[in-house]
Amino acid sequence: MKTTQMLVTLAVAALLLALPATASNNSTDAEAPTFYKDVLPLLQENCQTCHRPEGENIGGMIAPMALMTYQDTRPWAKSIARAVKSRTMPPWFATEATRGQFHHERVMADADIETIVNWVQNGAKPGDEADAPARKVFVEEGSGGWSLGKPDLVVKMEPYFVADEIADININFKAEIPPGAMTEDKWVRGIEFKVGSNLVHHMCASANPPGKESFGKFSDNSLGCIALGAESQMFPDGYAMKLAKDSVISFSMHYNKEAGEGSGFEDQSMLAFHFADEDEEVREISYDPIGNLTFEIPPGQERWKIGAARYFPVETDLLALWPHAHHRAVAARYEAVYPDGSRELLLDVPNYDQEWQTTYQYKEPKTIPAGTLVEVTMWYENSPERAEERGFDSTRSAINGTATTDEMMLGFINYSTRMPIDRMSMQLGITPSGD
Ligand code: HEC
Repeated sequence: MKTTQMLVTLAVAALLLALPATASNNSTDAEAPTFYKDVLPLLQENCQTCHRPEGENIGGMIAPMALMTYQDTRPWAKSIARAVKSRTMPPWFATEATRGQFHHERVMADADIETIVNWVQNGAKPGDEADAPARKVFVEEGSGGWSLGKPDLVVKMEPYFVADEIADININFKAEIPPGAMTEDKWVRGIEFKVGSNLVHHMCASANPPGKESFGKFSDNSLGCIALGAESQMFPDGYAMKLAKDSVISFSMHYNKEAGEGSGFEDQSMLAFHFADEDEEVREISYDPIGNLTFEIPPGQERWKIGAARYFPVETDLLALWPHAHHRAVAARYEAVYPDGSRELLLDVPNYDQEWQTTYQYKEPKTIPAGTLVEVTMWYENSPERAEERGFDSTRSAINGTATTDEMMLGFINYSTRMPIDRMSMQLGITPSGD
C-alpha cells in the first residue's frame, strides 16, 4: 500500500471513530430515550404482568418471552415497536366507550407509545443502569407465590398427566377441601387461580354441595374461569361469595398442545381463597351467564348475530362482565336498557378473540336500577376463510357445545342484587338471532 493511500485510509478511520462522539453531542441524540430511564418503567407498567419469567403466578397464562431486563428486551425491540404502535400490545379489546371503568385496563398513552418507538428508532440503547427503577415485585415474599398475598385456603386438584397423544381435551376433577380447613361456612373476598402448566388453555372451578357436582362454565356454583391474559383481583370492598364448609370443588380443565412424542406434561392446578374477617359486613355476589343455548349458526355465514337478555326486578350492582364464546365469535356487546327506555353501552368489544378471555372487572360497582334489562349480543363468522384460520368446519351449522370447535354464547356477569331474589324470576331470555 502506498503511503498516500494509507494516510487517506487512516483519515477515514479517524473520522469514523470520531463520529459517535460528534453524534452524541447532537441535541436530538442526547434526548433519545434509553432503556433504563424511559422504557423500563413503561414495560413495568404495561407489559411485565404477562411478560415475565415462568414460575411466578400470573393467574393466567404467561407470554412467550420475559421483558424484565435489557438483555431480555433488546432482541425484541423491533417487534415491540410494531406491537405498541399497532396497539396489538398490550392487548385490550374494549372500546373507548368504557375507558377508565375497568381494572387492569391495558391502554397506553400516545406519548408512551412514542417513547418506545423513538427508543427503537434511535438504536434501542441501554443508557445508564443507575437510572433504572427498582425491579417490579409481583409476588410478595412469604406469600407462597400468590399475587393476592397469602391465602386462607388452598385447594389442589389431583395431579394429571396430559398424555403425549392428546392435542385437545376438556376434563373435570373433583377436590375435597382439606379436612379441618373449614369448620364453618365462609365469605370469600377474593379467589386466585394457579395453573400447574403453561399448556393449560383455560381453567374453570365451582364449589358444589356434596353429591351435586356440576362442572364447567354452566355450573350454578361457579367460582370463575381464567385463560390467557387473566389477572387476579379481590372483589370490591363489601362484596363476597359464599363458600359452604362441606363444598366439593370441581376443576374443569382445558388442555391444548401439539400431540407427539415427549409433548406430555403433568398439571396440578390450584385455587386459593381469601376469607372475609369474622365481623366484616358483606353483600353476596352471584355469578352466572346471560346466555343463549339454543342458537344455530348456519354454514357459511359471514356475520350472524345471537342475543340474550335478563331483566333485573330489583336494584343490582354489576361487578364484572366476561363475554365467552369460541372461534367463530368476532364481536361482543353488553347494553343496559333502563326503565325510562334509554340505553347505555356497558361493554363493546368490536374485535373479539377467544384466545384472550378477558374479564372486565368494574373498579366501582356499576349500579343498575330496578327494572333494567341487560342485553348481551355476540356476532359470529362461520365462513370458509375463518374456518381455515381457526380450524373448524364452516360447512356445518354451529350449535352450543363445550368443544372449541362448537360454539358458545355466554355473557357472564358478577353481580349483587339489593335483596335476595330467585334467579329464575329474572326471566332469562333470548332475543332474535340472524344476519
Ligand atoms: C395480558 C398479557 C400481556 C400483556 C399485558 C402484554 N403482552 Fe405481549 N404478549 C402476550 C402474549 C400471550 C403474547 C403471545 C401472543 C400470541 O401468541 O398472540 C405476546 C406477544 C408479544 C410480542 C410478540 C408479537 C409478535 O410479533 O409475534 C411482543 C413484541 C409483545 N408481546 C410485546 C409486548 C409489549 C411491549 C407489551 C407492553 C407494552 C406487552 N407485550 C404486553 C401477552 C401480553
